[in-house]
Amino acid sequence: MSWLWTSADMVTVMGGRPLGNLPEGVTGISIDSRSIGSGEAFFAIKGDRTDGHDFATMAVANGAALLVVAEGKLPAMGRVTVPMIVVEDVLVALGRLAVASRQRSRAKIVAVTGSVGKTTTKEMLRNLLAPSGKVHCAVASFNNHWGVPLTLARMPADTQFGVFEIGMNHPNEIRPLVKMVRPHVAMITTIAPAHLGNFKNLEEIAAAKAEIFEGVEAGGAVILNRDNKQFGFLESRAQEVGIQNILTFGQHAKADFRLADFEGGAEGSTIWAVVNGETMEVHIGAPGRHIAENAMAALGVVALFGADLEAAKQALAGLRAVKGRGERHRLGIGEGHLTLIDESYNANPASMRAAIALLAATPPEVTGRRIAVLGDMLEMGAFAAKVHEELAGPLLAAGIEHVWLAGTEMAALRDALPDSVAVEYRPTTAELVDHVVKNVRPGDVLMVKSSLGIGFGKIISALIDNYPALPDRERHL
Ligand SMILES: Nc1ncnc2c1ncn2[C@@H]1O[C@H](COP(=O)(O)OP(=O)(O)OP(=O)(O)O)[C@@H](O)[C@H]1O
Ligand SMILES: [Mg+2]
Repeated sequence: MSWLWTSADMVTVMGGRPLGNLPEGVTGISIDSRSIGSGEAFFAIKGDRTDGHDFATMAVANGAALLVVAEGKLPAMGRVTVPMIVVEDVLVALGRLAVASRQRSRAKIVAVTGSVGKTTTKEMLRNLLAPSGKVHCAVASFNNHWGVPLTLARMPADTQFGVFEIGMNHPNEIRPLVKMVRPHVAMITTIAPAHLGNFKNLEEIAAAKAEIFEGVEAGGAVILNRDNKQFGFLESRAQEVGIQNILTFGQHAKADFRLADFEGGAEGSTIWAVVNGETMEVHIGAPGRHIAENAMAALGVVALFGADLEAAKQALAGLRAVKGRGERHRLGIGEGHLTLIDESYNANPASMRAAIALLAATPPEVTGRRIAVLGDMLEMGAFAAKVHEELAGPLLAAGIEHVWLAGTEMAALRDALPDSVAVEYRPTTAELVDHVVKNVRPGDVLMVKSSLGIGFGKIISALIDNYPALPDRERHL
């Protein structure tokens, strides 16, 4: 049996008090009593909404072999039949295990932050590095004060490449996380308005992202977006921290990993990528210029790690857009079909623009229309009205003639669009769901996007429930 951790090591590292007859080791670590696997250790941390201590019984029922709980919570827990390690603070204990995991690891480690594209790039790296060795990667967007230590503590000892996502809503969040991760390469995908509510301007956002440099290993590297307006600022921050290897990706003539050309299609793109002085023609199996930009950053990591570039290139061809981030559905309607682009995972001004470009690159059938179905972008603070209004520009430039909107803030976009655009506005998502389901027509292409909290996933599921999914056509790049 190969253990992720032996109980003895866990006790030593976390400084806990064993209670009961500890198993020799655990096969995994979980903080979720619903999805925990048998033989795993359950860490009863306080999550975003709940306290794990309330779910210890369920964790045990689902196979937990060991519980890590807080001394202070012990009296209230009642009878538990599974052995425990009792610690002062469970999250701190998880952090200690994370640090020990990093210490024992010989993996090459990359940490990804940025305003958008972290998960997209992380998932790309998972696929691009896989042919070169054993990859360990964050689940979903696990990028915060519990997601990062959990991902690190879960990293098997024989991992060859570790890929971490680090996010933030506030200054000083990234610093302690990156110091646990100690990456050899730190990447900032881009700086754009996201979580603006907590910041005065883009430079403040850039400064908070730049905290990622502070955890880079001696002799390590950073990869920055050469096309981003904050590049100069980030470069000087990296220099101040003493990082010597500052590499860049993007279209810029001076970019180290250069996107020399881009040919976009509805189902993927072809790019000419200059990496290590050589130009390669690369097919990417998911559409969008923003995906191609992320791919350049990912190829940069592959090159820096000395991993197999040719295999990474092949992996890009096999890439597919993921649920909520550009996934496409072909749904039967009447005699024809409609194309649904699911961008419902989240939205901010940068990803809205990227998604509008996706819509523009997808031709409707003769009878159909291009329809942007858009909901509020949250966390924009004092900039809310402005950033919503400003979507009129990219919509008009892309020639989108049908715009269906919901949400309080989207009223600003409604008012900013000229009469040449057919606008439908509903105050709530529920009202818009109804409109969308009743008014789609054969041949239409819909792109559906809003912040997660606005719940545009309901529009996606209502369409899928009402119109049967059709198999993919043969793919043409
Ligand atoms: N480089 C990019 N530029 C603009 N938009 C992008 C870029 N990369 C991804 N996106 C879009 O941004 C949205 C979020 O993508 P993704 O989940 O990769 O970002 P994230 O940084 O992980 O977000 P979160 O902060 O929610 O974890 C998706 O709609 C995606 O298609
Ligand atoms: Mg993410």
